[in-house]
Amino acid sequence: MRIGVLTGGGDCPGLNAVIRAVVRKGVTAYGHEFVGFRDGWRGPLEGISRPLEPADVEHVLDRGGTILGSSRTNPFRVDGGVDRIRQNLADAGVDALVAIGGEDTLGVAKKLTDEGLGVVGVPKTIDNDLGATDYTFGFDTAVSIATDAIDRLRTTAESHHRALVVEVMGRHAGWIALHSGLAGGANVILVPEIPFDVEQVCAWVKARFEQEYAPILVVAEGALPKGGAEVLATGETDAFGHVRLGGVGTWLADEIERRTGEESRAVVLGHVQRGGTPTAYDRVLSTRFGLHAIDAVHEGDFGKMVALRGTEIVRVPLAEATAELKTVPLERYAEAEVFFG
Ligand code: F6P
Repeated sequence: MRIGVLTGGGDCPGLNAVIRAVVRKGVTAYGHEFVGFRDGWRGPLEGISRPLEPADVEHVLDRGGTILGSSRTNPFRVDGGVDRIRQNLADAGVDALVAIGGEDTLGVAKKLTDEGLGVVGVPKTIDNDLGATDYTFGFDTAVSIATDAIDRLRTTAESHHRALVVEVMGRHAGWIALHSGLAGGANVILVPEIPFDVEQVCAWVKARFEQEYAPILVVAEGALPKGGAEVLATGETDAFGHVRLGGVGTWLADEIERRTGEESRAVVLGHVQRGGTPTAYDRVLSTRFGLHAIDAVHEGDFGKMVALRGTEIVRVPLAEATAELKTVPLERYAEAEVFFG
């Protein structure tokens, strides 16, 4: 077979490890050929590809980003997009695709499968918000980076007796905030799933200062005050209709200072959470996803996504994986509350 590989949506550490595993096993175990499509769905849409040989995936296991490039191109927003993809795949002699992405990229994969194309999905996103898999790769790395930042911010917060608000990514899911907040011993964790009460947050901040400690607050970019709205970085939306979030950390630090009189600072971790080398956990997970994805393609088991269930890699229908976002359940958040204040 001749198999196309693409990476779409926000990049994350571990993408190259998947590509490496797919190509290495596909060539050595099955004798398949590979082409890499550029920049997510833009590659098949515009017919931009290049051969992908084992030599191309050497020394990329630990490399962040994606050697194929990424984009948030949505072919279903382009007139005749599906027909163009079909034609470009035929012209390149491509029989099947491995699509590595999150809810948007895999949502397109699902629709293309419905149109009769052979696609297998691999779940990536630092947000860990894809249904049907216990974890996505990239999440562990993002949590490690955020935890390291919290550790560092704690020492400077203590020195200056300041409240430090750390804004993390995650869009509409609070997984990065919850895990990095727990790992970093945060005194307040705020997630998009549960609107927060600013008065209660200020009470926790004061309680922490009364114990002679400086509070660390981890806030997800999509967290919102009760009765308020998400804070948007800009009014722009991407090709999948997503708004750009950002700014709630600064807003909250200002509110804390105004309401409590305690000096406060905000740090927005932003894209640093997506950059650099994957953790060992993410390297192993992405490698295993890649190995199982090429097995699925080889068997012609299309319309599936590889997923982690416990410690096993399984295949689930793309429809199930993209049906709804996996958000933080209330009871998981409640576990962390004992550490607040
Ligand atoms: O989905 C991954 C993610 O990093 C989100 O956490 C964040 O909201 C978004 O992508 C940022 O997107 P962009 O890289 O387009 O600014």
